[in-house]
Parts: sequence; structure tokens; C-alpha cells
Amino acid sequence: MSMQGHKKDERWTAADNYVLKHLHPEESQLYEHVRFATQLAESKDIPSIEVSLLQGKFLMTQCQMINAKHVLEVGTLGGISAIFQASAGPEIKVTTIEVDEHHKAVAEEAIAHAGLSDRIEVLLGAGIDVLPKIRKEVDSGQRPKFDFVFIDADKPNNLNYYNEALAMCRSRACIIVDNVVRGGLLADDSAAENPGVKGAREVIGAVGTDARLLGTTVLQTVGEKGYDGFLNNLFAHVSSAVNDKESILQSIQNPDLICLSACPALSRLKPTGSFRTQDAEVGILNICLDARCALGNKL
Ligand SMILES: C[S@@+](CC[C@H](N)C(=O)[O-])C[C@H]1O[C@@H](n2cnc3c(N)ncnc32)[C@H](O)[C@@H]1O
Repeated sequence: MSMQGHKKDERWTAADNYVLKHLHPEESQLYEHVRFATQLAESKDIPSIEVSLLQGKFLMTQCQMINAKHVLEVGTLGGISAIFQASAGPEIKVTTIEVDEHHKAVAEEAIAHAGLSDRIEVLLGAGIDVLPKIRKEVDSGQRPKFDFVFIDADKPNNLNYYNEALAMCRSRACIIVDNVVRGGLLADDSAAENPGVKGAREVIGAVGTDARLLGTTVLQTVGEKGYDGFLNNLFAHVSSAVNDKESILQSIQNPDLICLSACPALSRLKPTGSFRTQDAEVGILNICLDARCALGNKL
């Protein structure tokens, strides 16, 4: 979604259009699905606050990069970002939450047109109510953990959504929060009480000190939707991996569960055994094994 009323630069739209011509060809099926969804939303008076086409493709490529299979989204609107994410691969399932019944109905029509009804589930309700229900299902094993999360709903709840989502993510999952730059208001102290800015500042402040993350950044964006930005987080489970015996043993048995190269808690540990650089994860696992020296009484 774009910042309402923010002054756009025509060069941004021109560049978007140029890139779209080359990277999002009109004859592609995805293009047709998204065009249908866009026109349907317009005809049903849904506000035009969805991701831009190139932002949708950004979400899609992020899902592809981490080989996502289970995606969680808060804020469905007309289903456009959900369609992009589900189009990242034939096995991807998207669970998306929408508080507005009308938006949900329109999204479901667009999703059906795209042939994705069996892979995109739209849940009706406020994110703050629906997420704990999903979490219960994840905790009880009824639902798999999520690999990728896109948060794009009511901005004051950004941090709540981030916290709920993180609790349902597998290690190395990616969480993206949209609209955190807000036409530059993010850095404007006179706008600190603006609910959107507050929501962006809260979540950025929290992730900045969240030791569970392997990496995090804010990517400022310009384009046909104006000037804004994505907050990208890569979840790593790092702190728990070094803090308790079960997690370490689990990590050792399942290398996919960890990637500890940026783990602050490990940086003070010196690998005492062999460190196989050919395979970073194995090397890191060795560090983890060697961490027994430092954590000896815990293992
Ligand atoms: C920016 S739009 C989402 C755009 C969509 N992700 C896309 O790019 O195609 C935000 C959506 O969040 C929904 N929303 C607002 N408050 C919500 C809440 N508390 N819980 C769930 N959805 C909410 C709005 O009704 C709206 O459809």
C-alpha cells in the first residue's frame, strides 16, 4: 500500500512501467490473474492500497528464495499480494487474514479466478483475534509452522502481529512488514504520534533488539505507489539454540534448524575442533558442538 497523498515522482512510475514490460509480461498467466483481481477490486470499490506489481513480484521472489511452502499474511484486501505469494511455487499454501467481509468476498472471487482457492485460505476476523487461534493449531501440530509472513494490515498492531507470527515460524523464516517508511515520516519526530508512524517505529525498535533474528533491514521503496519501505526480518532461533540443551541437540540433529553465523551469543565462543568451511552450516554445527566447552555444565 502507498502513503496516501504522498507526492510521487513520475520517474518512479516510468521506471516501474519499464521494468514491468520486461519482467512481468502481459501474456503471462500471473499478469492476467493480477489484472483480473485489480479490475474486480476497482469495480467493487475496494481501495487501491494493494502492493504494486513489482512489490508483489518482490514478495514472490522472496518466497522462492527461501523455498517457502507455508505463508501467513495479515491484510488480504482484494487478494493481490496473496496471489503473488501463492504463485511463487505450485506447493505454496497461503493463509491470509482479513477483517472486512466485503474485502474477503472480493479476494475470494479473485483467488478463484486465479485457480488458487485450494491454496489460499482467507480467514475472516481481526488479526489480533485470529492469529492466536492459528497459533493454537500450529502449537498442537494441526498446522505446519510458517516459512514466510507478510504483515500489511492495521499499522498500530504491527508489533503484535510480528510477535504472534514469529512464535509460529520455523527457523530461517522471513517476516516482512509493509509500509514502515511512510513517505519518510518514519524519521520525522513531529509525526511520532501518527498511528502509522508509531506502529512502524515500535516494530523497528523491537526487531532491532530481537536476538532471535539472524538478520533484519529496512528497504526503502519508491515506485508507482509512492515512497515507503519494507521491514525484512530473517528469523533464526539463535538465542534459544545456544541457551538450552534440547535446542542445541535438536539443531545438531537437524541442520536446517539453525544458521548461527550471526549469533551474538556464539561469537564469544571459539571453535576448538575442526571447522569445515566448505559447508558453512556444518562448520557452524561444529561451533555448536564445541560450545559444549562453554556450556559444559548444561550439556
Ligand atoms: C493495505 S491492505 C492489504 C493489501 C494486500 N496485502 C495487498 O497488497 O494486496 C490492508 C488490509 O488490511 C485489512 N485490515 C485492517 N485492519 C485489520 C485487522 N485488524 N485485521 C485484519 N485485517 C485488517 C483492511 O481491511 C485491508 O483490506
